[in-house]
Amino acid sequence: MGGKLSVPVEEGDPSVGLEGFRRSLGEFGTGVTVITTNVDGENFGITSNSFSSVSLEPPLVLWSIRRASQSFPAFEACSHFAVNVLASDQMGLSQHFAKSGHKKFEGVSWTPGNSNVPVLADVAASFECRRTKVYDGGDHVILLGCVEHYCRYDRQPLLFAKGRYAVAADHPETRVLSTADDLHSPLGLDEQLLLQTISKQDLAVVQRALSRVIADLS
Ligand SMILES: Cc1cc2nc3c(=O)[nH]c(=O)nc-3n(C[C@H](O)[C@H](O)[C@H](O)COP(=O)(O)O)c2cc1C
Repeated sequence: MGGKLSVPVEEGDPSVGLEGFRRSLGEFGTGVTVITTNVDGENFGITSNSFSSVSLEPPLVLWSIRRASQSFPAFEACSHFAVNVLASDQMGLSQHFAKSGHKKFEGVSWTPGNSNVPVLADVAASFECRRTKVYDGGDHVILLGCVEHYCRYDRQPLLFAKGRYAVAADHPETRVLSTADDLHSPLGLDEQLLLQTISKQDLAVVQRALSRVIADLS
């Protein structure tokens, strides 16, 4: 790689101003999760992108919650929580659980998991965890969980980077060959993005429309 240093767009001391610090943290792209719990029969959920894997053996994960959030007392008291990794078509669900002060589970599909933690439907993956440790993290608290059950589905993940939602696309320099056909028809970046954002149902509609066009032409 070239040794030329680039000029920063912005820099500074976070104790002087938070805006540039926030934007700089936003350069670190993440997935998006909704973390859920059930305390005394009541469900709680919060959108979080601070989720991270920690250890395979034992299977540990962590995330952090802002002390000022309304769900904080519930997550501080809970014995278990579930990490619901959102799929690319669940941006609305992310926005829904990022808003305070409303009935978050009304109209949302979920099933009870270990210790009744709500596991959301149609996610890309879920991790049901026993809360093991809690650490001080300034204006946040870091929760460590031991994964007792996981599920993975054949869905694309929802991403968050630069303060915006995004979808995953293979890097142009990455070659992912899942089938022999891919060798003969590698997709461009635009085509991959399109395929990842439209659902299987949409694809079926496109397929039917194309069949009709081809039939008309022949
Ligand atoms: C993409 C995204 C990621 C977020 N990540 C976190 C997080 O990791 N921890 C946190 O405390 N809040 C996070 N938030 C903010 C909470 O979702 C938001 O404060 C929520 O309204 C809290 O709900 P409550 O006040 O009902 O608990 C995130 C919001 C968004 C949109």
